[in-house]
Amino acid sequence: MQKLKIVNVVGARPNFMKIAPICEEIRKYPGIEPYLLHTGQHYDHAMSELFFKNLGLPEPDRYLGIGSGSHGEQAGRIMIAFEATLDEVQPDLVIVVGDVNSTIACGLVAVKMGVKLAHVEAGLRSFDRSMPEEVNRVLTDQISDYLFTTEVTARDNLTREGVSDDKIFFVGNVMIDTLLRHRQQASKREVLTDLGIAPRAYALVTLHRPANVDDRRILTGLIHALCAISERLPVVFPVHPRTRQRLVDFELEAEMRGYPDLRLRAPLGYLDFLQCMDNARCVITDSGGIQEETTVLGVPCVTTRENTERPVTVVEGTNVVVGRDSQRLLDAVHNILSGEGKAGRSPELWDGKAAERIVNILWEREGAPRITANETIR
Ligand code: UD1
Repeated sequence: MQKLKIVNVVGARPNFMKIAPICEEIRKYPGIEPYLLHTGQHYDHAMSELFFKNLGLPEPDRYLGIGSGSHGEQAGRIMIAFEATLDEVQPDLVIVVGDVNSTIACGLVAVKMGVKLAHVEAGLRSFDRSMPEEVNRVLTDQISDYLFTTEVTARDNLTREGVSDDKIFFVGNVMIDTLLRHRQQASKREVLTDLGIAPRAYALVTLHRPANVDDRRILTGLIHALCAISERLPVVFPVHPRTRQRLVDFELEAEMRGYPDLRLRAPLGYLDFLQCMDNARCVITDSGGIQEETTVLGVPCVTTRENTERPVTVVEGTNVVVGRDSQRLLDAVHNILSGEGKAGRSPELWDGKAAERIVNILWEREGAPRITANETIR
């Protein structure tokens, strides 16, 4: 039997939890031959390796070791190396997830080489083209053969951009598959004790978007707000490498030292971070994925961005979007501490079975047709 050869691509931190359940599901199909490729866009132990370990991901079959750089340089290096890999591996299909530079760079190479492309987490739109991720999302969706969506609004966005309806599949959320699978294991971690915090008695913060951290005025305002919040409840802040650098550049570190309950830490692994989210009184973030994870966990989330590409987290979930204004951030946290945080509910199909749906669709359309009548189907 000629197997269906699928290259799964990961590059940066938010990709790992999205590809993990797909890799796991593919293992149930003897007719599929998987190949895991890591571009190396993220390379620090805490941003990459630790996630492979926490999520039980197999060692990548190929590590491109691309590292950091300007967007053009990074995408260019990924494309050159990925083209050589595809030449050698000759897959039938490439799966890319999310919206990072590795997603569009590998997607573009695949379609130019005539390899079918599946995009997982398609159709999300912030309608803000100044976000690098928005450009990556729009372009990847335009060139994909399979567009797997997480929420109902995504289909409307794609239809408006001319994507034909028969390529769009509403399957749910693979990142939530991973969360539901690891929640119990995460609950056994000792991270709260290690950080000296008690359940429901701290705020958890992540900030790394260029729009927030690369602008001195905005970052200073947000940090001042966090200092003020830390006087009411401890603030745990695992700091992304980009943000760490900006805190040094803008000389904010010394000021923060005057607030002992603003606790800066190195980035956490997947399980420790999940445990911290699950037990937080509230989460303050500019991440995309964390808006979704807090919605499923039922933890109030304050998003320090002007928009969200994940509107279901606001309409149905626990998320409020406050922009980059420090006063609005303070007001939102005040509301939560006064007991007015949103309870929310889990959106449709965020049930832990998204990867199962995705692999089933791909197998039915791409794999099954190769099997002749007297060969066994999985
Ligand atoms: C990338 C994604 C973003 C995602 C984020 C999660 C794009 C356009 N952005 O942003 O969508 O939310 O990852 O973390 O793809 N660095 C390290 N070690 C690392 C990785 C990065 O020190 O392992 C530092 C480097 O100085 C680098 C900077 O962080 O220049 C930014 O890294 P980069 O991958 O360019 O983008 P992120 O800001 O991490």
